[in-house]
Amino acid sequence: MISPVSLGALLAAASLVEASFDRNIAYRSPSRRHPTLAVPLSHVAKRQSGDVYSPDEVNFTHGVASGDPYADSVILWTRLAPTGDSVASDLVPDGVVPIYGDPDGARPSNRAACVEFKIATDPQVTNVVDQGRAYTSSDVDYTVKFEAGNLQPFTTYYYQFNVCNSDKKSPIGRTKTTPAETQTVNRNINFAVYSCSNYPDGFFNAYGNVARKDSVDYVLHLGDYIYEYKGDSSLRNPKPDRETYSLYDYRARMGSYRTDPDLLMSHASFAWIPVWDDHEVADNSYKNGTGNSSGEVFRKRKQAAVRAYFEWMPIRQVDMDDSLRIWRSFSFGTLLDLMMLDTRQYDRDLTVLNGFAGIGGNSKEVEKLVDHQNRTLMGFKQEAWFYDQLTRSSQRGARWRVIGNQVIFSRMALGILGNRPFNHDQWDGYVANRDRVFQHLADGKINNTVFLSGDSHAAWVSDLAWLGTRSYDPATGEGAFGVELAGSAVSSDTPVGSWMPNLITKGLSAWLVKDNPELQWQDLYYRGYFEISVGYEDVMARFYGIPNPKVRSSDEIKIAEFLVHNGENRLARNPTVGGGKAKAGALKNGKVE
Ligand SMILES: *[C@@H]1O[C@H](CO)[C@@H](O)[C@H](O)[C@H]1NC(C)=O
Ligand SMILES: *[C@@H]1O[C@H](CO)[C@@H](O)[C@H](O)[C@H]1NC(C)=O
Ligand SMILES: *[C@@H]1O[C@H](CO)[C@@H](O)[C@H](O)[C@H]1NC(C)=O
Ligand SMILES: *[C@@H]1O[C@H](CO)[C@@H](O)[C@H](O)[C@H]1NC(C)=O
Ligand SMILES: *[C@@H]1O[C@H](CO)[C@@H](O)[C@H](O)[C@H]1NC(C)=O
Repeated sequence: MISPVSLGALLAAASLVEASFDRNIAYRSPSRRHPTLAVPLSHVAKRQSGDVYSPDEVNFTHGVASGDPYADSVILWTRLAPTGDSVASDLVPDGVVPIYGDPDGARPSNRAACVEFKIATDPQVTNVVDQGRAYTSSDVDYTVKFEAGNLQPFTTYYYQFNVCNSDKKSPIGRTKTTPAETQTVNRNINFAVYSCSNYPDGFFNAYGNVARKDSVDYVLHLGDYIYEYKGDSSLRNPKPDRETYSLYDYRARMGSYRTDPDLLMSHASFAWIPVWDDHEVADNSYKNGTGNSSGEVFRKRKQAAVRAYFEWMPIRQVDMDDSLRIWRSFSFGTLLDLMMLDTRQYDRDLTVLNGFAGIGGNSKEVEKLVDHQNRTLMGFKQEAWFYDQLTRSSQRGARWRVIGNQVIFSRMALGILGNRPFNHDQWDGYVANRDRVFQHLADGKINNTVFLSGDSHAAWVSDLAWLGTRSYDPATGEGAFGVELAGSAVSSDTPVGSWMPNLITKGLSAWLVKDNPELQWQDLYYRGYFEISVGYEDVMARFYGIPNPKVRSSDEIKIAEFLVHNGENRLARNPTVGGGKAKAGALKNGKVE
């Protein structure tokens, strides 16, 4: 017979475990319904022996972060761990082979850490509006993700974590909810837009500068937040000291990047809305492989990368049945709808794995595919969702449609390379998909569309022109469907080589701007980022250059400014484009100061 005491203890342990892990949504990452992707709670429960770390055995090792704000809730992130390093563990449920490359013999720990959060309206975190408690464990690399609720729209909040029943606390973070969908927004909303932060290539000054200026409401990241390469820099190199393949590798890489003080400052200061590009998995990835992995190796590599991304990034899972889905949307009152796309990992058809523009590798094979009507960059499921989002947004009367996307959307002839001029890893390799986007904007008479792009390590500002199908006047912008604002890299080297002097890159930019009718400004020299300030009457984009990312510094210069007026669907010509307000690169019809 079982004694009442031990029965009670058993029941307590069982309910403690299932219920209290549940609020840590990292356990659902990326999807509880997919056995190879989530950590089943029964497995977690079995491992827990009620043995909880004491406060002095654990630390908040990687600061705090928040993201994916809604009008009434936001995701809060921290890591409470017995070690600053990631834990090598073979976490795949019974019957599934361990993830490729994980160190042998590592197993999840039986111990758990208990964490509580509070979110409040004041910087001292005393006027608390929501709080909660959960456990974390090695199963999820000791990451912690709460959805904080009970929040008011378009309001600043402060949050903090502590070890349960102790005064051991994390740093305090700040975050902000979005305006309610039907709300009129009484001031401009400002975003910082980033891409391509390669740790060995340079310091993350661009992240820190925006936090120091406190110049935006939210941060968007268009991907290449981490790079998979083995570090080979004299500046600094991330862990692990090899190219990433296993779950351990991707976790350690995330953890290593998340020690940069400027990145930590940005995460603690702003709600982030990130999407991945290729390097969160590996260079030139598409749905069935990367530049140098395919088949089973690729499948496991991607699974590991995706899981680490969900564990470490403060994002939501918007569809529990679609473990790869990070495409999602956010509304900011009646001012704008933000659609974040995944043009890379979700369902992209074959890309250029190696070689370029029809020369070398598989690029000749891809060149033969680019005009096929059945080709897709986004996957047909995401395409259908995207067109529907555009229509709904326009019909509900949101003033702007802002699209966070990875690769350059506009047609870009890279004339400097001679007569095989397109980068087929961008939308130029998926012409039918781009045509379907233009067709949808045309059919719905959808106005005020702003594409944001990253990936290229250079800056490109264009009218959205459907070249070859709709007439377009480069002088006035007449005939365009909106604008594309593509930013340079936080730190990743310029595509033309970091040794290239400004004088020569200016010449190359002038060539590109001359060769591409819709391209109004281009710069190859500066690392940096841009900010957009969105109001009902216009969108202002400001591009910032980081003169030297090889040293930690707050130096930056404003290198260009562009205005888009409501209803015009093109870049304003005067006094910005054409009239000229750029200190770098080349302007069409304008003089660079
Ligand atoms: C926690 O941080 C403190 C201060 O940096 C350090 O002394 C201690 O060893 C850390 N504990 C663990 C478990 O990492
Ligand atoms: C390619 O990827 C798709 C989508 O992830 C999958 O359905 C298909 O089975 C894969 N094909 C091969 C040959 O691996
Ligand atoms: C993968 O490709 C990168 C360059 O794109 C190279 O540096 C690396 O060595 C390759 N790794 C393997 C395992 O082939
Ligand atoms: C896509 O279209 C091309 C050219 O029309 C055709 O050769 C190919 O078989 C098609 N692929 C699929 C998957 O339908
Ligand atoms: C977009 O602007 C045009 C020109 O002002 C207008 O005719 C059209 O109705 C607008 N579309 C929508 C959906 O409001």
